[in-house]
Amino acid sequence: MLERLNEEKVFKDPVHRYIHVRYRLIWELIGTKEFQRLRRVRQLGTTYLTFHGAEHSRFSHSLGVYEIVRRINEIFSQYDGWNEENRLLSMCAALLHDVGHGPFSHSFEKVFGFDHEDFTRMVILGDTEINQILRKVSASFPEEVADVIAKTHDNKLVVSLISSQIDADRMDYLLRDAYFTGVSYGQFDIERILRVMRPGDDQIVIKQSGMHAVEDYIMSRYQMYWQIYFHPVTRSAEVILSKILHRAKKLYLEGYSFKHEPKHFHSLFKENISLEDFLKLDESVVMFYFQIWQEEDDPILRDLCERFMNRRLFKYVEFNPMEKMNDWRELYDSFKEAGIDPDYYLEVDSSSDLPYDFYRPGEEEERLPIHLLKPGGDLRELSRESEVVEAISGKKRTDHKLYYPADIIMQGNTKATRRIRSLLQLD
Ligand code: NI
Repeated sequence: MLERLNEEKVFKDPVHRYIHVRYRLIWELIGTKEFQRLRRVRQLGTTYLTFHGAEHSRFSHSLGVYEIVRRINEIFSQYDGWNEENRLLSMCAALLHDVGHGPFSHSFEKVFGFDHEDFTRMVILGDTEINQILRKVSASFPEEVADVIAKTHDNKLVVSLISSQIDADRMDYLLRDAYFTGVSYGQFDIERILRVMRPGDDQIVIKQSGMHAVEDYIMSRYQMYWQIYFHPVTRSAEVILSKILHRAKKLYLEGYSFKHEPKHFHSLFKENISLEDFLKLDESVVMFYFQIWQEEDDPILRDLCERFMNRRLFKYVEFNPMEKMNDWRELYDSFKEAGIDPDYYLEVDSSSDLPYDFYRPGEEEERLPIHLLKPGGDLRELSRESEVVEAISGKKRTDHKLYYPADIIMQGNTKATRRIRSLLQLD
């Protein structure tokens, strides 16, 4: 089961320089069609419309997470109790943790009501090449890998390598997304963090001397969320993408006859997508339909696809619908009056993030805090030691934006469009 390759394989990687593969099992998993499919799914969805460098794939991110876990394993192998079983389990889980992601996951999951985590489980446990390879280790091994990814595995230490507030997944995506978007704020010293990581009883702990490197990592995460992941222009593209999916689904269910039948979407529209159909979807397929839907007779579908393909996105203003219920209703009605369907052309998007949290038992999003290992062997929660981290701990920030088609609203000269402009304070 732990057969080594005759010769180590390496992938050149812009973030980690090299990804090293020594086990035959890992090499075979990378070669499966389910894993190769991740080359055709972008890591950051619509972000490439804001930061044009952000074309990197989930394939490169998955290899990166594997490489970080492989390096943590090298460090942990010096400690008692860290055995070969942990090593193999953590590396497979790292490699496969995102294997259930579909094209533009965020929007697809919201519109069609499924969860990529369910598909990750199905890819690992179902009738797939990945499952066949994992079974060579043992009949129960696929289940174990799936449990680590789902955070339900008994070995909490292995789970914490893949998902915790300082895990290999986050460390890779922060560095990788910063590199490909070209920004400088995602940087932190991963070499240092890896050197000060230690295996605790049920999670990774960090030597006290590494506290500043961890502060840097937390701040980098905070910056990346607000500067990249929640960028309002990216969210605008996301809004249009969701509207396209909603429109196409509605038309399909109403029996509209498409010029080009969207075969790949049928089971999605009916919300009974099988694993087999899911694995046939990737971003090239989605973009193909968006391209040809620009020729459809339905004016809304056609227009939304033109906007997405040619990056004629919606503009935005700050708007909190909870504080402005009346304005929202008036806007909605004015859009109708102006002949602009508000269900497709008016949207409020809210994003919120909690950069770091200490332990709050029983809360909805229970998070394991990061623990520092003091020289005497005691553990201290990070925000009790670091004033920088304390300042942002447990503080949730939310941002509300209202999206609208500025080209239509600014040109219109009816009573309704004038009212919309005044409600949005555009004049
Ligand atoms: Ni990931």
